[in-house]
Amino acid sequence: MPAFSLKSWQNTLHAALDPAKATIMLGKIQRRFLGEKGRLDNQQNLDWLGLIAEDIPVFLTRFGATPDLLRETDQFCTNLKTSADEILSRIPHDLGGGGGVPLLYALTRLLRPNVIVETGVAAGFSSATFLAALAKNGSGKLYSSDFPYFRIENPEQYVGIVVPAALKQNWSLHIKGDSANLPAILKECGPIDLFHYDSDKSYQGRAMAFSLILPRMMENGLVIMDDIQDNSFFHDWVMDHSDTPWTVLKYEGKYIGLLGKTLPAS
Ligand SMILES: C[S@@+](CC[C@H](N)C(=O)[O-])C[C@H]1O[C@@H](n2cnc3c(N)ncnc32)[C@H](O)[C@@H]1O
Repeated sequence: MPAFSLKSWQNTLHAALDPAKATIMLGKIQRRFLGEKGRLDNQQNLDWLGLIAEDIPVFLTRFGATPDLLRETDQFCTNLKTSADEILSRIPHDLGGGGGVPLLYALTRLLRPNVIVETGVAAGFSSATFLAALAKNGSGKLYSSDFPYFRIENPEQYVGIVVPAALKQNWSLHIKGDSANLPAILKECGPIDLFHYDSDKSYQGRAMAFSLILPRMMENGLVIMDDIQDNSFFHDWVMDHSDTPWTVLKYEGKYIGLLGKTLPAS
């Protein structure tokens, strides 16, 4: 995420003059400082996650990934990194990296989803990954929700910048923030096979997205939630829904939560 400088404050103030953006920005600030934190404090949540988390390659093998698919996934990740490094070296901002790219690629290849919905695009590592795996599958469409970083001047031009033009025909990108984008996406898409949450990390942001998306998931759909170490939303949700199988994975010092009936027993 870009660091704050005088220029970022100016860009933030400029964005705040747009009433639609100002509403979303105020909501984010309010949730960050006053919002619900969940039933576990940060340390309790980290302790819980640390006890149960599994490595991604181990999980993928349990989920049915073959050695060939793991090799294809590695090759994809190497190629994406090379092309993204080249594209991002030409722009003056740090847009952040992608979370769990190998997991997203391999799961999309394994599950062969028709409809993927994701929140949080930024430079587009996850979007490029889903779209490349869908192209390899030969079917499926990605619907993405983002709210461009307001600290950057004209941030819209950078949303999904690492996504190759050739993959964009199966992509519906919405950039007005989840609270406006998700209802619009739900009007456009059919039942959801795969949902990836990687946008507003607050407890309420996650709860709002779940309330909209879960009723529209396929019976065998899979939910992937990034950065579940930020608050105890994922913990609280799985404790309240004992009938839904779940798994926690670790990736580069962070944690990813998975929910769905097709998950293999731990
Ligand atoms: C961690 S980045 C996403 C990274 C991306 N999934 C990837 O793997 O490359 C989070 C993104 O979510 C966006 N975001 C934050 N709050 C949002 C909201 N309320 N609605 C939609 N997008 C939001 C941020 O601006 C940023 O672009």
